[in-house]
Amino acid sequence: MSKQTVLTGITTTGTPHLGNYVGAIRPAIAASQADDVNSFYFLADYHALVKNQDPARLKQSSLEVAATWLALGLDTSRSVFYRQSDIPEILELNWIISSVTAKGLMNRAHAYKAVVAENEAAGNRDPDKGVTMALFSYPVLMTADILMFSANKVPVGRDQIQHVEMARDIAQRFNHIYGDTFVLPEAVVDDKTAALTGLDGRKMSKSYNNTIPLFLPSSKLRKLIMKIKTNSLEPGEPKDPDDCVLFDMYKAVAGAEDAAVFREKLLDGLGWGDVKQELFEHLDNHLQDARREYDKLIADPGYVESVLQTGAGKARESSAKLILKVRSAIGIGALT
Ligand code: TRP
Repeated sequence: MSKQTVLTGITTTGTPHLGNYVGAIRPAIAASQADDVNSFYFLADYHALVKNQDPARLKQSSLEVAATWLALGLDTSRSVFYRQSDIPEILELNWIISSVTAKGLMNRAHAYKAVVAENEAAGNRDPDKGVTMALFSYPVLMTADILMFSANKVPVGRDQIQHVEMARDIAQRFNHIYGDTFVLPEAVVDDKTAALTGLDGRKMSKSYNNTIPLFLPSSKLRKLIMKIKTNSLEPGEPKDPDDCVLFDMYKAVAGAEDAAVFREKLLDGLGWGDVKQELFEHLDNHLQDARREYDKLIADPGYVESVLQTGAGKARESSAKLILKVRSAIGIGALT
């Protein structure tokens, strides 16, 4: 069987946090080490533009996201690691597939629907208040990302499954009109990697501003962990490890043995202050080497840029070929 192609994008809207690490980055890096896959990972900076219109922040986030993946050991000799905006064929494909995408399909996209629902709930006369064309057609750009590299599998969080299904629909529609051109992609959702809870008890997410940035300096990491909300059980009273954000975080990074020991300590009534201290020490230790590497990379954007340029070169070997095939299929290009 030929190799499967796995592809996923990371929006460059913020600073990578512990939830991103556990839920997306770590599994993706592990998957890229398999011999039977070709993997593509990219910074979705044009997607970030939908929400992030602060140029300095956008650029900084691109550096931070790239440095994070590299610091955590993404092997760029085995995978293609690039920036979306370095691949002009993606935007070209975006337009081409827009012409076979029903507006009605985009009306059903949940991110768009959520904004409309909010507007309606707030009694706004315009249900599309605050909706840009980019927000509306976000799934089309995502489709272009995916189809461009003939991805078979697209690892995503639950909230993105619908978008991958749309990519599949659009690919099918195109193939139906113009002949077999695109591979039909499939979303892959990892059930084992439960979303982490954030500092305030809600899902850890940059939109809730409740994250633990992955590579904070030790002292800041400790401060944030000390701020996590707990219940009022006293030292000596047993704590339920199965209903404990601190234990969830511990378990997400620790090995099974360490986790089992920590579980016992909770059941034995370790005080919350000590629980937090142990969690901090474990995390700090776990992240230490990668953090050192991250700090080096952040201080050397020229190097990170060169890695991305090499990735773009590799990516464009595929995208240049595919776009020619697409142009020829649709009747755009030279007359002779
Ligand atoms: N929309 C995705 C997210 O918010 C990021 C993304 C952009 C992506 N293009 C992609 C994911 C293509 C997978 C494939 O997480």
